Amino acid sequence: MQETHTMTGRLNLIQRIRYSIFPGTLQTLKPKDTYRRFFNSLILHFRPRNVQESTLRFTLTWGLGGMAVVLVCILFATGLMLKFVYQPVPDRAYESIIHLQNNVLFGQLIRNIHHWSANILLVVVFFHFLRVFFTGAFHPPRQFNWIIGLAMFLAVLISNITGYLLPWDQLSFWAITICTGMLEYIPGIGNWFQKLVRGGSDIGPATLSVFFAIHTAVIPAGLLVLMPFHFWRVRKAGGLVIPPILDETEGRRDRKVPTIPNLILREIVVAVVLVAVIMVISVSFNAPLGAKANPGLSPNPTKAPWYFAGVQELLLHFHPLFALVILPLLMSIILIGIPYLNYQTETAGVWFASHRGRRLAVLAALVAVIVTPIAIILDEFVIDFVAWMPGMSPVVKNVILPVAFSLAGITVFYWLLKKKYSATKNESIQAVFILLMAAFIILTITGIWFRGKGMVLMWPWEVGS
Ligand code: HEM
Ligand code: HEM
Repeated sequence: MQETHTMTGRLNLIQRIRYSIFPGTLQTLKPKDTYRRFFNSLILHFRPRNVQESTLRFTLTWGLGGMAVVLVCILFATGLMLKFVYQPVPDRAYESIIHLQNNVLFGQLIRNIHHWSANILLVVVFFHFLRVFFTGAFHPPRQFNWIIGLAMFLAVLISNITGYLLPWDQLSFWAITICTGMLEYIPGIGNWFQKLVRGGSDIGPATLSVFFAIHTAVIPAGLLVLMPFHFWRVRKAGGLVIPPILDETEGRRDRKVPTIPNLILREIVVAVVLVAVIMVISVSFNAPLGAKANPGLSPNPTKAPWYFAGVQELLLHFHPLFALVILPLLMSIILIGIPYLNYQTETAGVWFASHRGRRLAVLAALVAVIVTPIAIILDEFVIDFVAWMPGMSPVVKNVILPVAFSLAGITVFYWLLKKKYSATKNESIQAVFILLMAAFIILTITGIWFRGKGMVLMWPWEVGS
């Protein structure tokens, strides 16, 4: 104690402040080494000292989880900056964005970075979700991390929807009118829930304030809890998933390498490249901003945000009860249930479960790519249940029949996989999942690029005209 006191007494003011931050290292280490030690020990508070060498392979994760973390950090940083200028009241919101873009130093750039990072985050999280699914990283001991992941997916989606309204332009006002309009189809609680979300019967000042609070406080707080929980679960599972075969034949599980520099350097490279890409996009393309919101004049076509275009397309073909309640409910049950099913084989860490799994995945994607557009065209131009079955109740025609047809199609596909290709349960579930996912992507593409005025089917080059 006495020695420390006399030592600090010999230092100048700057050195004393530095000593108060990095005690004990001032005399013995050069400044460069001091900082390195400090940062290394900081990193090792969050990360394991060593990681399995085989999990460093880029094609295991494609760096997607790391990219999502970087994007969330960018969104938090730029979001906080936007808050200094943005005003969440209908009379001022649009004007504050115009002021931000025209009069605030780097205002337009900050808004662009926030806008593009938010949209890219959705895509990255979707691909991360696919990679986790296709490498079977939802099997024990990672079951609950899948559930946390789903909650984070929902949080990112809600962040995007609530942020979408904030600029208060025609695009955002009417897109959110459509999205919140869908809520009234939830049986029993629909109208109540819609009022709760909108803060009243219509989109207005209360909606903006509810969305702003959710966007800048509720969801960020949720993510700040969920993200560390997610990373802690990765660590508790002993790191990322590895194929069991590699464990036995090559003893890979035992081969560990230090996190610094092996993992950290790779993560820094991914982060730097991602930030560079975001900067290039943000400098080149401005975030869209239409005319100020006009509740009396809806644009034609009025489209939902791109991530809901698939649901909006579904609504053109199915009864809202099916498209907005039954289907999402079924999908949620399936997604939550996936890690808890009883599987015959242990395939964690193997992309697409097996070689046959890979072939069936391609088959399922092909079936969806061919069948979905045909079904859309048939429904648009040929099928007309109303004219064909005039006496039948609308519930049977619009809800029971489509549900029965869709379930029958999926069951036949599942049965064919089992019978014809002797697929395992893992492989069959995966193929059905790909079928549904690919069909949804085709619906989304149709909604974004192939629907024009009056939501009529058109070629993409006719849509804008
Ligand atoms: C904001 C959203 C998310 C962030 C920031 C995030 C971040 C991460 C990171 C950094 C990792 C470790 C490295 C990697 O796998 O790339 C990881 C692993 C994991 N994530 Fe996510 N994730 C998110 C969403 C999701 C979603 C939507 C799911 C699935 C429903 C999910 C399920 C998992 C699982 C099961 C693991 C462990 C994978 C393994 O052991 O190989 N995550 N996540
Ligand atoms: C996962 C995190 C986040 C996502 C996905 C997200 C997404 C979005 C989106 C899509 C917009 C609309 C941008 C546009 O096209 O104009 C937006 C706007 C905005 N966000 Fe966020 N955001 C996130 C986090 C945050 C945070 C943490 C804050 C502040 C604490 C914030 C504050 C704002 C503000 C003030 C606006 C209005 C300015 C504008 O529209 O340009 N955001 N956000």
